[in-house]
Amino acid sequence: MTVRHDLVVVGGGPAGYAAALYGAASGLDVGLVEERSLGGTCLHVGCIPAKELLETASVLRTVRDAAGFGVVTGGVEPTVDLAVSQVRKQKVIDGLVKGLGSLLAGRDVTVYDGTGRLGVDHVVTVDGPDGPVVVAADHVVLATGSTPRTIPGFDIDGSLVVTSDELLSITEVPDRVAVIGGGAIGCEFASMLADYGSAVTLLEAATEILPGCDIDVAKTVRRSFRRRRIDVHSGVPVHGHDPSDAATTVRFGDDSTVEVDLVVVAVGRRPRGDSAGLVGTRVVVDERGFIGVDDRLRTGEPGVYAVGDVVPTPQLAHVGFAEGMFVVKDLLGESPRPIDPTTVPWCIYSHPEVAFAGLTEAAAIEAGHDVVVSSHRFAGNGRAMIIGDVDGLVKVVAARDADGRAGRILGVHMVGPWVTEQLGQAYLAVNWEATVDEVAEFIQPHPTLSELFGETAMALTGRALHG
Ligand code: NAI
Repeated sequence: MTVRHDLVVVGGGPAGYAAALYGAASGLDVGLVEERSLGGTCLHVGCIPAKELLETASVLRTVRDAAGFGVVTGGVEPTVDLAVSQVRKQKVIDGLVKGLGSLLAGRDVTVYDGTGRLGVDHVVTVDGPDGPVVVAADHVVLATGSTPRTIPGFDIDGSLVVTSDELLSITEVPDRVAVIGGGAIGCEFASMLADYGSAVTLLEAATEILPGCDIDVAKTVRRSFRRRRIDVHSGVPVHGHDPSDAATTVRFGDDSTVEVDLVVVAVGRRPRGDSAGLVGTRVVVDERGFIGVDDRLRTGEPGVYAVGDVVPTPQLAHVGFAEGMFVVKDLLGESPRPIDPTTVPWCIYSHPEVAFAGLTEAAAIEAGHDVVVSSHRFAGNGRAMIIGDVDGLVKVVAARDADGRAGRILGVHMVGPWVTEQLGQAYLAVNWEATVDEVAEFIQPHPTLSELFGETAMALTGRALHG
């Protein structure tokens, strides 16, 4: 017997559950297939646990610095008990998974427990605990996600060599760690482990850490990491490692080595394009594992979409949400505007934090824009001084108008305290195609960290207030 729905979604991570929830909110009868637990990478081995453990690092820093505020902690150097932190992390995850289950149930989404395989005619066979179930729908959304990549010579054993999957469950702070890959994940883990007290070596193959970020932002993070004694090496290929007892020696660069107790491999995520059958369909999976889609996220098979980490767009949970909602509008014939991958918001929760939207200065120039740029540092910001965290800057990249003045805001790049919570208005400015004159009209509350964005935009009008 085949169960029919209007829409069947394969994969219950952010992109898949967003499609399911939004589809149900739009009046569709929806089935959602998930082989593990609802929530995907984000809830179980990604955003949520990583930020939870980074918050532990932040609390530790606050307690360490308490004496400077006159807060007496008894002169005892604080340490972290990761076993307690892990319990707290799991409680947060369990609460969110439960909430998600309730939301889906509340919208009458039928959740199928098992692995879904898409075949011809939009038929999905679910291999579940009670045998196969066959479902079919007018439209199918593939949202099968991604898994951590590794590199030759680094077999993941879960104890000496790990990826984010295993690192997020550690209960002991390692003494010495090599983090391979200086992208978002590598920088977040290097920062977190350094706060916990590990001696961290960060190895990045590209010429600078955080490739893709504005160079001034990447350099600020690098300087800050150096001050915190994170040993940052960029432009270094990693060749392999030689284990001995409980440690291992990582070989990198021309002839450098570092002995560590843990290797964290953070070199990107591999899309799981081949995990949903697809036999007899016109869905195309490329050699990297991505499902081929057009700018409306349609695959080669009419009526079948793909969203989230499994398609070649930024691998971010919130982009997954946006894509999930986009395809529902598209299949309903609402003609939504395609998502522009160059203007989505990015947030990296290292210390200092990084947040940006829109073009970097280099990307704007490469795209042919004549640009005007202004940067302001948190060092002059009252709130940053009050919280004792002044490292960082806000940089606004604007297009030069015919009269030579700064016009439309093309990109905003932030590094510093709580910038992940400050990006909102900058994101709106970029995506609303606002000019610096328009943004400078608005009042920023005082004293706030977000004043720095207003100040930087105002400086581009030619009349700064403080800067
Ligand atoms: P990534 O692609 O952002 O960074 C991987 C880094 O590893 C790159 O800088 C690359 O040059 C480097 N690399 C590759 N091979 C190497 C080698 N053999 N030796 C040394 N370095 C090497 O991938 P990452 O950080 O693993 O994150 C995966 C995905 O998840 C990304 O799309 C990322 O944006 C997303 N993500 C975003 C977060 C955020 O926005 N806060 C947090 C975590 C992940």
